This record gives sequence, structure tokens and C-alpha cells, in this order.
Amino acid sequence: MKSCLSVCAVFGFYLLSLTPALAANANVAAGQAKAAVCAGCHGADGNGGADPLWPKLAGQQSEYIAKQLADFKSGARKDPIMSGMAAPLAPADMKNVGVYFASLQAKPGAAKDAELVKQGEKIYRGGNAKMAVSACMSCHGPSGHGIPPRFPKVSGQNAAYTQKQLLAFKSGTRNNDSEVMTRIAFRMSEQEIKAVSEYMAGLH
Ligand code: HEC
Ligand code: HEC
Repeated sequence: MKSCLSVCAVFGFYLLSLTPALAANANVAAGQAKAAVCAGCHGADGNGGADPLWPKLAGQQSEYIAKQLADFKSGARKDPIMSGMAAPLAPADMKNVGVYFASLQAKPGAAKDAELVKQGEKIYRGGNAKMAVSACMSCHGPSGHGIPPRFPKVSGQNAAYTQKQLLAFKSGTRNNDSEVMTRIAFRMSEQEIKAVSEYMAGLH
């Protein structure tokens, strides 16, 4: 009993001393501190703000968030607001901010237009064989939760934001995607983009 106590105590101490080193890789608390300035647009709980063009970040994958911030900073993804917000962040900050937003609970979104949802569901689940548009769920998952580290969560997002991104991929003004989304969106009609965006808003 006595020897177990001392062994456990030593082992416990070893674990305690190890934990901060592991957490230093990507630190939720450090990310939260850096994210104070983000709350005005992305929400105190990460679920977005007053403008539907300000995306929800809660529950988004940490690697995807870090990549987008690096892309905004380098100019690979262009947005006048976000390039300014990302500019002061170091790569470690981007990782920390990513794990912080990933740790927040995503609130479910809601689709409004049942007819659009029906059209959008077909595209999301089956693609569009005629125009060689892949089923969205093959990369973003059947519930839109994405597949880390490359394929982001797209469920529950504001439809207006999703629509804006798909139109930007289609026109090539957003092209930080290794040509995956630009090729897909290029073959989609504006009506299909509107429908699939509405469907994904209610997906959970
Ligand atoms: C003044 C409003 C505003 C502030 C403050 C702001 N953002 Fe943004 N953010 C936006 C807008 C608008 C977009 C969408 C840009 C676009 O349409 O491509 C965006 C997009 C993003 C994205 C991409 C999301 C996705 O799904 O691809 C990330 C990540 C992000 N912001 C992180 C942050 C972080 C981290 C901070 C704080 C350091 C921050 N933002 C502060 C307005 C803001
Ligand atoms: C072959 C895999 C693949 C398929 C199929 C795919 N996507 Fe994507 N999608 C990606 C990748 C990778 C990204 C991230 C690009 C980046 O890093 O900026 C992405 C990003 C997105 C984004 C941006 C998310 C954000 O928060 O800004 C949207 C919206 C999206 N995809 C919708 C769709 C829709 C709708 C379909 C079906 C018509 C689809 N995707 C099919 C791989 C895929």
C-alpha cells in the first residue's frame, strides 16, 4: 500500500508535469484570449453575429480554421475585414484560436424554404451526374460535420454565407481550395447553389 502510494504519487507528478507541455501544442485558453476581438462579429459563443455574412465558427474544425487564417494573412483568401484580423496572428495563435472555436458548441441552424431544401438535398446527397458535380456528402459527411483535417464542417451555417462562398468559388474569387471547390462550384448553376446552401443551413 505504502509503495503504491509513493509510486502513484511519482507517476501523478510525472503526468502533471507532462500536461502543460502537451497542451502547449494547441491551447484553448490562449486561443480564447486571442479570440476576444473576434466576438463582435463571430459571436461570444462562436455562433455568429448580427450579419448572416459573418460565419459561425463554433464546432468548426481547428485545422480548417487555422488554414483559413493563414490564407487570409497571406492573401491566398481575400477578404478586407479578415485579412486585417489575421495579420497580427502568428501560426501558433492560429492553431490556438482554431482549437478554441472547435471546442465551442455549435447551435443548430434552420432552413426556411422547404422547396429549396428538397432541391438542395438531392445535390448534397447525390451530386449532379449530368454536370459531374460530386455529392457534397462524400467529403463533407452525411450530416455536414466534415472530415478532419481537410474537409470543413458545413452544417448549420448561415445560408447567405454559404451561398456567398459557393458563388466565390464558382467565379474563382475564392481559390484557396487546391481547386477542389472551384471545380465543383464552376459546374453548378446559381439556383443549385442557392438550394444546396439552404439545405446545409438546416443540416445537423
Ligand atoms: C468585423 C467583423 C469580423 C471580425 C471582428 C472578425 N471576423 Fe472573421 N470573418 C468575418 C467575415 C465577414 C468573414 C467571411 C469572409 C468571406 O466572406 O470570405 C469571416 C470569416 C472568418 C473565417 C473563415 C470561416 C470559414 O468558414 O471559412 C475565420 C476562420 C474567421 N473569420 C476567424 C476570425 C478570427 C479568429 C477573428 C478574431 C481574431 C475574426 N474572425 C474576427 C468578419 C469578422
Ligand atoms: C472532393 C471533396 C469535396 C467535395 C465533393 C465537396 N467539397 Fe466542399 N470543400 C472541400 C474542401 C477541401 C474545402 C476547403 C477549402 C479550403 O481549404 O479553403 C471545402 C469547402 C467548402 C465550403 C466552404 C466552407 C466555409 O466555411 O467557408 C463550402 C460552402 C462547401 N465546401 C460546399 C460544398 C458543396 C455544396 C458541395 C457539393 C456540391 C461540396 N462542397 C463538395 C472539399 C469538397
